[in-house]
Amino acid sequence: MGRQVLVVGGHGGIGRALVEMLRHDTTIDAVHATWHHREPEPLDGVTWRRVDVTDEASIQSLAEEITTLDWLINAVGWLHGDGAGPEKHSREVNREHFLRAMEINALPSLLLAKHFRRQLKRSNAGVFATVSARLGSIGENALGGWYSYRASKAALNMALRTLAVEWRRELPSATVAALHPGTTNTPLSRPFQARVPADQLFSPERTAGYLLAVIAGLTPAVSGRFWSFDGEELPW
Ligand SMILES: NC(=O)c1ccc[n+]([C@@H]2O[C@H](COP(=O)([O-])OP(=O)(O)OC[C@H]3O[C@@H](n4cnc5c(N)ncnc54)[C@H](OP(=O)(O)O)[C@@H]3O)[C@@H](O)[C@H]2O)c1
Repeated sequence: MGRQVLVVGGHGGIGRALVEMLRHDTTIDAVHATWHHREPEPLDGVTWRRVDVTDEASIQSLAEEITTLDWLINAVGWLHGDGAGPEKHSREVNREHFLRAMEINALPSLLLAKHFRRQLKRSNAGVFATVSARLGSIGENALGGWYSYRASKAALNMALRTLAVEWRRELPSATVAALHPGTTNTPLSRPFQARVPADQLFSPERTAGYLLAVIAGLTPAVSGRFWSFDGEELPW
């Protein structure tokens, strides 16, 4: 039997490209995907459901409907919107912006892990992967700025690492991963693309191909690590 896959945030820039690639993959039996604000057109081979990842009840009902699963990929994220953007200076930090970044970028992966643990435990090669960001690496932070986004991705990375420690004992067939997609041409990065060299700005399709190649190479022996799109391991 082929794999059952769920892409949370499957109607975002990177998420949608992942869904497209997965639905054409003949080793995959079922593609489940979630949307939030913008309802997608029906797509052959894809079951869509509306989910707000800041609402635990919404995640819980998703997990009640999807009873078998091998790969869960969380491609949800938030950087700017509603007048808020990444802070250049600590003077610009405000509580609402910081907490919003945390509630969309950091906490949902833990809630997804909580509610999909049972399904991934039954898989013989479960993968729990979240699209993080290199900006969340504490070790690599030499540029500063972007406080809320960086802090939320660092918190996400710690949550994933901690989950990997727990699941090493309890779900020994599963692999947990944090993924850096590279700068990708999506609404999230659009206001910040001006200084990105053209060859370093990926299409969502290119990024999806890279990320799925990284995921396909994962094994439980390397659970709890942070991977760049090119397969390089990143420092926390
Ligand atoms: N693009 C880049 O250059 C880049 C670089 C590094 C890391 N990343 C990471 O890659 C991931 C995907 O980002 P992207 O570039 O594809 O951005 P995107 O096109 O803006 O997609 C983000 C998705 O998250 C969804 N989302 C936001 N809040 C949600 C909520 N409360 N519940 C459910 N879904 C929600 C959005 O849906 P709605 O719009 O409908 O709310 C959207 O579909 C993010 O984690 C981002 O941090 C991106």
